[in-house]
Amino acid sequence: MSSHGDPIPMQSGASAPLSGVADVPGDKSISHRALILGALSVGETTITGLLEGQDVLDTGRAMRAFGAEVIDHGGGKWSVHGVGVGGFAEPDQVIDCGNSGTGVRLIMGAMATSPISATFTGDASLNKRPMARVTDPLALFGCQAVGRAGGRLPMTLVGAADPVPARYVVPVPSAQVKSAVLLAGLNAPGETVVTEAEATRDHTERMLAGFGAEINTEVTDEGRVITLKGRPELKPQHIDVPRDPSSAAFPVCAALIVPGSDVLVPTIGLNPTRAGLFTTLREMGADLTYENEREEGGEPVADLRARFSPDLKGIEVPAERAASMIDEYPVLSVVAAFAKGDTNMPGVKELRVKESDRIAAMADGLRAAGVGVEDGPDWWTVIGQGHGNVRGGVTCASHLDHRIAMSFLVMGMATQNPMSVDDGGPIATSFPIFEPLMAGLGAKLSRL
Ligand code: S3P
Repeated sequence: MSSHGDPIPMQSGASAPLSGVADVPGDKSISHRALILGALSVGETTITGLLEGQDVLDTGRAMRAFGAEVIDHGGGKWSVHGVGVGGFAEPDQVIDCGNSGTGVRLIMGAMATSPISATFTGDASLNKRPMARVTDPLALFGCQAVGRAGGRLPMTLVGAADPVPARYVVPVPSAQVKSAVLLAGLNAPGETVVTEAEATRDHTERMLAGFGAEINTEVTDEGRVITLKGRPELKPQHIDVPRDPSSAAFPVCAALIVPGSDVLVPTIGLNPTRAGLFTTLREMGADLTYENEREEGGEPVADLRARFSPDLKGIEVPAERAASMIDEYPVLSVVAAFAKGDTNMPGVKELRVKESDRIAAMADGLRAAGVGVEDGPDWWTVIGQGHGNVRGGVTCASHLDHRIAMSFLVMGMATQNPMSVDDGGPIATSFPIFEPLMAGLGAKLSRL
């Protein structure tokens, strides 16, 4: 990964019509959870379709450090011999979670109620991100944390030897925080209760139920109230990881803005807590259809067909939809640049604390490429230029953020002049086959 190596400058240029089938890799959120819950169950969990991106590989390495046996059988097939709830061993090295906020926050939760200590670190991006949002609720269980100023990594957690269950209202819309609390609750006696005002991705809840935990979600006036009974014996599972809607976003959005394109992206999860981008694109006038809608592994899935959409229009994206598309705003802002009219994106404060400040990173590059952007602490507006009118022709900083790098590279496929990024290396964290996949569709994409 380039965060530990040399930067990989990349460039994209005006592409011929994109066409063909885009087989995007496994879901990152579900892949992390499959490894962690596999490690917390007794016996062998098998996983197919695991995302073999650096973020997930780092979580696999961490699970080994806590005592689980994690085996790569090749071709996306993995197995995890778990140690059971409360069975984590104390790692004898620092746990390096690389670029992954999901990895570090979920693992902190999973170890917080075991009588062990662990020290966590990450790359320059992860070490800037706030961890108090996780260590504050973990303290309710009796877990102590000592990190750098502002609650940043590197940080040592001392797990609770005698944990108590917690009740916690998540103050920011974050599936990572919710999940950390639930994973900590696994090894606390009694019931742990988490309330979230806004629905965030529910993969942890679904997977915990699949592994045999007693977990219940009630929808109330305060939001979703999730109750988990502690100290279950998790039973190993087979998990077939669905493909990642957040990765599908890139070939889909590229097809919408490159004239003449027609791309099929098969078997994409349309879990309502993840599918907000596709709803938004359709409201903007995108020619995006769901084919062969069905259920797989308890999740709604469909094949997405995206075609060049000459009449995209700017819209107001409802703030209450933000959690269901939080990782997709960077590439949405690119599509918005090719639409007619303004696209307003309110309620997105969380974008400021992702792998980068994603509003600032995108606004800088878009403005340099001739696209008007206005922004405030929790909102931004992209002033659409219309197809054929986006100048491009700049090099953008990816800020160690995979989605920023991919967004600007998608943009360059339809701008008047090529777009470059200073470092495409971080793309390997979530979408290691981005380059060959996009090139296979006909995209003009190269390393410099
Ligand atoms: C994730 C939750 C989201 C998302 C991240 C993956 C998860 O983060 O941005 O890419 O798998 O739980 P937050 O929980 O910080 O919103």
